Amino acid sequence: MIHIRAAGYAVTGGRDVLTIVDLPTRDPGPGEVRVRIHVSGVNPTDWKSRNGAIHMPIPDGAVQVPHLDGAGVVDAVGADVSHVRPGDRVWLWLIAFKRLEGTAQEFATVPADLVRRLPDSASFELGASLGVPFITAHHALTLRRGGPRRLAPGVLDGVTVLVAGGAGAVGNAAIQLAIWAGARVITTVSTEAKVRLARAAGARHVVGYRDQDAAEQIRRIAPGGVDIVVEVAPAVNVELDLAVIAQHGEIVVYANNGGDAVTMPVRSQMAQAVTWRFVLLYSMTADDLDDAVSSIDHALGDRALRVGEEFGLPLHHYPLDRIADAHAAVEDAVVGKVLVDVGR
Ligand SMILES: NC(=O)c1ccc[n+]([C@@H]2O[C@H](COP(=O)([O-])OP(=O)(O)OC[C@H]3O[C@@H](n4cnc5c(N)ncnc54)[C@H](OP(=O)(O)O)[C@@H]3O)[C@@H](O)[C@H]2O)c1
Repeated sequence: MIHIRAAGYAVTGGRDVLTIVDLPTRDPGPGEVRVRIHVSGVNPTDWKSRNGAIHMPIPDGAVQVPHLDGAGVVDAVGADVSHVRPGDRVWLWLIAFKRLEGTAQEFATVPADLVRRLPDSASFELGASLGVPFITAHHALTLRRGGPRRLAPGVLDGVTVLVAGGAGAVGNAAIQLAIWAGARVITTVSTEAKVRLARAAGARHVVGYRDQDAAEQIRRIAPGGVDIVVEVAPAVNVELDLAVIAQHGEIVVYANNGGDAVTMPVRSQMAQAVTWRFVLLYSMTADDLDDAVSSIDHALGDRALRVGEEFGLPLHHYPLDRIADAHAAVEDAVVGKVLVDVGR
């Protein structure tokens, strides 16, 4: 049996629980694929799982290899797997969810349906940046009553989307997907540097969310109001959102940055028929996940998705043995995408 290098933790806790360990590789069983991981993507949910804020139990004596997202090359496939072959470049998503095998290791043996081919035009960095941010963003953009279940060019023509926090990883993904689908995109940020990043992501309209006249600025851009708000900080932004929401508009919340409790008026929202939706990757149905992943594949094929500072998402690379620093960067909300280079 071959042993491989992995990052892992046996108990949840601070970053010091992360260690580099040798683990045995596992041959893929029916419906499984073994992938040689090149890049592992880090998301806030990974450190929240590691510190126990998100409950993912680890059996006694076991090691949890972290990270949901990654990219690499298929090394072996089990029986009944036909959509990928050894040698294929692939992206992986939702890997460490309710599973001890995450992507922070040299080889991961995972369910084949969590592995998709990566076009030659897409880098491993892009592949490892897709899962959590782009699936979440896709879901947020496709919940609207009467709207499309899958994004594609033109399906959001005539729709105005407000992305709160356009320099964040999910914000960046929401901008890219909404633009690809034809929406008019407005985004909010806090600093001039983030204005540049949000524009680089493709947003034509960028507003400072702390500007006294943020609502007026958005109303000038979209006099009829905003159809979909993709919201990261509802407790902070509720007033702004309600000041710009269109009749029958929808506010989709995917995080509680800035506070968990939202105080809001009722009567005016009844008159406007506002809908609030709440999104959690872990609560999405298999159909919702399939719609998101299929649309992401479509957008990749169209070369519509990008990462890197020139596309609004600076990349921060760490070697596997500095995984604790990579987690620190995400915990400290570094601007951009944190990636762990597992092997090249
Ligand atoms: N529901 C889900 O399934 C799901 C999926 C993915 C992520 N999340 C959660 O979503 C959050 C963001 O994740 P991420 O990976 O995108 O993190 P990130 O890259 O650190 O981005 C967070 C962004 O939120 C912005 N922000 C904070 N307060 C804001 C406000 N009041 N108005 C507008 N923007 C504001 C920040 O900008 P400033 O610094 O300029 O304020 C930053 O750009 C995390 O809490 C994460 O756990 C949830």
